[in-house]
Amino acid sequence: MSRPFRTIIEPFRIKSVEPLGITTPERREEALRAAGYNLFGLDSRDVLIDLLTDSGTGAMSAEQWAGIQRGDESYAGSPSFARFEAAVKNLFPFRHVIPTHQGRAAERILFAHVARPGTIIPSNTHFDTTRANVEAAGAEARDLVIAEGRDPSSRHPFKGNVDLQALATLLETEREHVPVVFVTITNNSGGGQPVSLANLRAVSALCRRHGVPMFLDACRFAENAWLVREREPGQSDRDVVDIVREIAGLADGMTMSAKKDGLSNTGGWLAMNDDDLARRCRNLLVLTEGFPTYGGLAGRDLDAIARGLVEVVDHDYLRYRIRSTAYLGDALEARKIPIVVPVGGHAVYLDARALLPHVPPLRYPGQSLAIELYREGGVRGCEIGTLMFGLHPDGTETPAMLDLVRLAIPRRTYTQSHIDYVIEVVERVAARAPSLPGYRIVSPPAPLRHFTARLEPR
Ligand code: F0G
Repeated sequence: MSRPFRTIIEPFRIKSVEPLGITTPERREEALRAAGYNLFGLDSRDVLIDLLTDSGTGAMSAEQWAGIQRGDESYAGSPSFARFEAAVKNLFPFRHVIPTHQGRAAERILFAHVARPGTIIPSNTHFDTTRANVEAAGAEARDLVIAEGRDPSSRHPFKGNVDLQALATLLETEREHVPVVFVTITNNSGGGQPVSLANLRAVSALCRRHGVPMFLDACRFAENAWLVREREPGQSDRDVVDIVREIAGLADGMTMSAKKDGLSNTGGWLAMNDDDLARRCRNLLVLTEGFPTYGGLAGRDLDAIARGLVEVVDHDYLRYRIRSTAYLGDALEARKIPIVVPVGGHAVYLDARALLPHVPPLRYPGQSLAIELYREGGVRGCEIGTLMFGLHPDGTETPAMLDLVRLAIPRRTYTQSHIDYVIEVVERVAARAPSLPGYRIVSPPAPLRHFTARLEPR
């Protein structure tokens, strides 16, 4: 066997390039002030390396662009839909596949039918749009992740796992209030942490015993399957496609954002086995998204996703993807910069509360750190902490569980030298962390305030 090389290479070459926004420190200062110190308010041309999200920001392949040309824009019965449906069913053989314009549209349509006041929807951790859609239907979104999943320094290999004891107790005592059990793979809100196959099998068995359907929020299913292959005993020789099909077989349906592991810039779907539920979901789809063979997407988008689903389960791609995220995490750990460990699939999360102990949570240490990364080097990350989660519907404010900055890595977009640059920027900011200020909000309170709030240092 040939000796492996140390260097991770991107398993593609670049055919089309897009210039980056190179700015001066003065320009960045001005941009920060104009945006009210809210990185969502920046003009993206003022951002050099954009790690705000991995959603819809990846690069498509030459074959996906070819699919864009092949796209058939017929209103009904488009062959693009047939290719999309076949690609989804190849991995997730559910009877019904319903396209939507993105993940949250699938969530809204599903929860409109299964959630109502008095019901409880458990998950390992609901993503914020999932939680918002559950709550909009009047139901309770309950997070049941294992204790290790709440501890940034625990090295448990599957910190996205569902707490089986807590789920069993819920189903034994309140089965009639639980219309569906969700599992998010990977667990984005908990640090992009994977869920083990053993845990998925156990959740599925519990659900079947109690007659409750199990659904996947499968946005990053391929990354989760690769981490199962790498970390779970007995899985290292399996094909990722085989692991994904096993996971699909444990569930009764799924919601999906194709903007992540669909390798597409837009799109999503809702899938399930239940004929009656599917009929009702399609009726609502026609009202709000579109006809069931396009669901709010163009035919060309369906073709881009169909091809993306082939490329995302390629082992060379996944090895590179997961290694390159770990590369950033390992470099920061080696420099003693506090991060959530072990590094998950799509992002590295900086522990701002640990790095800025002098900034109290209600002065937003995560936001302070995110602002400084932009100021120092034009790198845009995203606060996931008290600014995002601290304000409650009754107007009170409390510290979030953690104050993090997520550096999410778009797929196939940045090279290793871009990431080396990010490492340098984080290192410089960390060196002067004790001098970073706290912030206060100077705009009126608003729901989902992290998108619109204006802040000032204090
Ligand atoms: N579920 C999870 C786990 C997600 O991460 C997202 C989106 C969604 C559902 C909703 O999908 O955006 O297509 O409507 N996450 C993005 C992020 C926005 O930045 O993590 P969508």
